[in-house]
Amino acid sequence: MPQGLTDVLEEWKCLEGEYEQLQETHRLYIQKLDEISNLQTKCTSSISRQRKRLKEVSQLVKNTGPSEEDAKTLDEVKEKIKARPNAFFEMEAFLPKKNGLYLSLVLGNVNVTLLSKQSKFAYKDEYEKFKLYLTVLLLLFSFICYFFVSYRFLDAIFNFLLVWYYCTLTIRESILITNGSRIKGWWVFHHYVSAFLSGVMLTWPDGNLYKSFRNQFLAYSLYQSFVQCLQCYYQSGCLYRLRALGERHNMDLTVEGFQSWMWKGLTFLLPFLFFGHFWQLFNSLSLFRMAQLPDCKEWQVMMCGLSFLILFMGNFFTTVAVVRQKLKTRKQKSKTL
Ligand code: COA
Repeated sequence: MPQGLTDVLEEWKCLEGEYEQLQETHRLYIQKLDEISNLQTKCTSSISRQRKRLKEVSQLVKNTGPSEEDAKTLDEVKEKIKARPNAFFEMEAFLPKKNGLYLSLVLGNVNVTLLSKQSKFAYKDEYEKFKLYLTVLLLLFSFICYFFVSYRFLDAIFNFLLVWYYCTLTIRESILITNGSRIKGWWVFHHYVSAFLSGVMLTWPDGNLYKSFRNQFLAYSLYQSFVQCLQCYYQSGCLYRLRALGERHNMDLTVEGFQSWMWKGLTFLLPFLFFGHFWQLFNSLSLFRMAQLPDCKEWQVMMCGLSFLILFMGNFFTTVAVVRQKLKTRKQKSKTL
């Protein structure tokens, strides 16, 4: 046999061997996928069954009038019943579920559940990075528009970028929520309102009124981007530290270091956040005053004023509630130590 053919046959035999191995591995992979899919269905139906029965048991507990000795046992049961929904929530973060209305409308019925902790962290990390890059871009854009160029069409591009950014955030955050993130509903709603506000700003025709509000709006956008950079730094710091701890939701002794870092970060951030909130209130009052002017014909003035007012109220009250809740859990933790 010529030398060339021997080489080819040898190579081919080797390749065939590897291919058979690959086929076997792939068969195993498909089998495991089937097993996983069966387990997912089993867990999902078991959780909904448990939920239903938990409701019945809670009702039963409510209707029971125990003797003094039994009261302690009943209290223990009550505590356990209270903790169960959280456990179900954590389990469900690793199970495929039907998309909510918004995701179904935007993405269709594609499964967006990430099945491992690493991929969840990686997705959140990428979300924080995306926010940071876009925020830096918006910061530069608003800086250029504020200090150097004053063209309506550049303002329009800036506002369009804002609309796109906020719409993208709403999609990413819905995916994060499906994957077990505890982002409060308000922050997602905040991005819808902000997208609406930027859309209205985009359609505001050039004129004296637009010009008189333009600089105030750009200065506010500049400041907001700056605060968002700080916020991104704080939130990705939280994420990295939690990942390093290998912990997420349940805080225990090992998380003490994380807690003190979080408090330092939060107390540094809060004055900037509250200043931003009052700037939103100031914007809304300026626009309401502008809407009273006899030559104000544009509907955009009132709409932007209302949007800023809604943003101020939602941001301010939610931030206060978040800080109060964090203070409360900190006090409870120090009591139990
Ligand atoms: N946007 C998006 N996600 C947010 C968020 C926000 N503004 N605030 C909190 N989250 C997320 C967190 O990343 C966390 O997600 P995870 O469960 O996936 O880990 C979850 O919501 C719960 O966070 P929580 O513990 O309640 O708050 P925090 O410590 O991460 O952040 C604040 C607290 C006050 C710093 C934050 O809520 C914030 O920055 N709020 C102000 C925003 C604002 O007012 N912007 C306008 C500035 S002018």
